[in-house]
Order: sequence, then structure tokens, then C-alpha cells
Amino acid sequence: MAAEHNILSMRDLRAGYATLDILNGVTLDIPQGEFVALMGPNGAGKSTLLKTIFGMTTFKGGCIEWRGKQIAGLSSRRVLAEGISYVPQGRCNFPLMSVQENLEMAAYTIRDSGVKADRDYVYDLFPALRERRATLAGNMSGGEQQLLEVAMAVLQRPKVLLVDEPSVGLSPAAIGVVFRELLRLRAEGLTILLVEQNTRKAMEVADRAVILRLGEVIWDGKPSGISHEELGDLFLTGRLRGEARHNETLSD
Ligand SMILES: Nc1ncnc2c1ncn2[C@@H]1O[C@H](COP(=O)(O)OP(=O)(O)O)[C@@H](O)[C@H]1O
Ligand SMILES: [Mg+2]
Repeated sequence: MAAEHNILSMRDLRAGYATLDILNGVTLDIPQGEFVALMGPNGAGKSTLLKTIFGMTTFKGGCIEWRGKQIAGLSSRRVLAEGISYVPQGRCNFPLMSVQENLEMAAYTIRDSGVKADRDYVYDLFPALRERRATLAGNMSGGEQQLLEVAMAVLQRPKVLLVDEPSVGLSPAAIGVVFRELLRLRAEGLTILLVEQNTRKAMEVADRAVILRLGEVIWDGKPSGISHEELGDLFLTGRLRGEARHNETLSD
């Protein structure tokens, strides 16, 4: 794919935690405007990859090209200023504050003026949150809290949204709501990199599926290009069944 179609390009990206190596050379392109689902077994390094893009791990080498500029190793604050927002795994940060106060907190972190305009913009995007504006965030359902987290990130008006496992612990109905909102944001032009354990759901909504295993990308393509059985094989063995046979023959 031509480079200008990729908003984010990672090449041989290596990162981890202090002396621990977790990402062992990730090469991955995120095309502008696409919804990319990052999947893989537990411990594969999915969260670490999002955190690395967002400047929260120990950068060890390789590059992350962002609209022609190298951003690997920059601080989270600078990555955010570049237009990349991150929704970490887990529920809302300020459960004892109202929805409105949470949104105001998020708005203040980016600029000290125009808070009301930003808030209205998010309420227009997520009318359900406007209805709940006086509710304490911690008293909302898991799905609503997840939407609030996404809304707080969207308030930063990012060009790319990194979202880590928003469906964990949610009811099927709440998962449906969260995914519908993500799809709507994508329809408005946002590029989304989503980490998701619910592979069925991820394959349903994503334009592209990326499978990470042991800190490396082992499969990358359109969701229609892989079956659920093949996905299972890749998670377990890192190879497709046919490939395994082929490799075994070669090594005989
Ligand atoms: N803060 C941390 N310090 C040290 N090791 C970590 C830290 N966070 C994650 N790890 C390790 O990094 C590896 C990848 O973790 P993670 O990126 O969370 O995987 P995934 O999101 O794919 O389940 C795991 O072995 C995990 O134990
Ligand atoms: Mg994770």
C-alpha cells in the first residue's frame, strides 16, 4: 500500500518494560480512516503495543512514522498533542464525579478555553451521555462508563483513537452499543486501532485484522480472509494448519 495512505507506520518496533523485551520487531501499517482490530492471545503484547504508540513503555528501537514524522519514544503528552488519543483498559477514572465533571476534566487537560463548546460537541456525538450528565460516573452501567471513556478521548479531537478492550465485562447489549459508537466515529473519519478479545465481534466490525503473538505480527489482512478456525490455530500455534504441514514437510 502506498505510504501516503497510512496514517501510522511501524517498522521493526521494539519496546518493553525496563530491561524486559515485549515487542520484538512489530511492523504494521494503519491506513488512514480504517478500523483496525488487534487480536492475539493473552500476553501477546497487544496492550504493550498501544502503550508504546502512546509513549508509555520503554522504547528500544525501530520506528513509528506518523504523517511523515518519527514519534517513537515521545512522551504521552506529545503523542496526544500530535492527535493520537488512548483509551486504556478498565472503567472510568473518576467514578465519584458526574459525567459532566468527567468530560470537563478531559477538556481541561487539552486547553483551558472552549470547554463548553467541547462538551456540547461530545454530547452531540453521544446523546446518551447528555441524558446522564448529572449521574455519578461510577453509578452508570459498564457500557455507559466505557462510552464515557471513549467520549473523553474523542474530546481531544484525535485523528487516531487507540482503544484497549472496551468490551471486557460488558453485557452483549452494552458491547453492541460501544461497537456501534466506534463504528459511527469511524464513519466520521476517525482512524481506530482497537484491541479486542471478542474476536467474533472484532472480525464483524473491523476493516482489517492484525494478529499479534509473542510480540510479533503473525497475520495481517481483511477479516474476510480468515476463518474463525484459522484464527484459533493462529492464536494457539502461531501458524495456519496448512502452513504447519508445509513447514513440517520442509524440516523433514
Ligand atoms: N508494566 C509492566 N511491567 C512488566 N511487564 C509487563 C507490564 N505490563 C505487561 N507486562 C508483560 O508484558 C507482556 C505482554 O503484556 P500485554 O501487552 O498486557 O499483553 P496483552 O495485552 O496482549 O494481553 C506480558 O508478559 C506481561 O506480563
Ligand atoms: Mg491487554
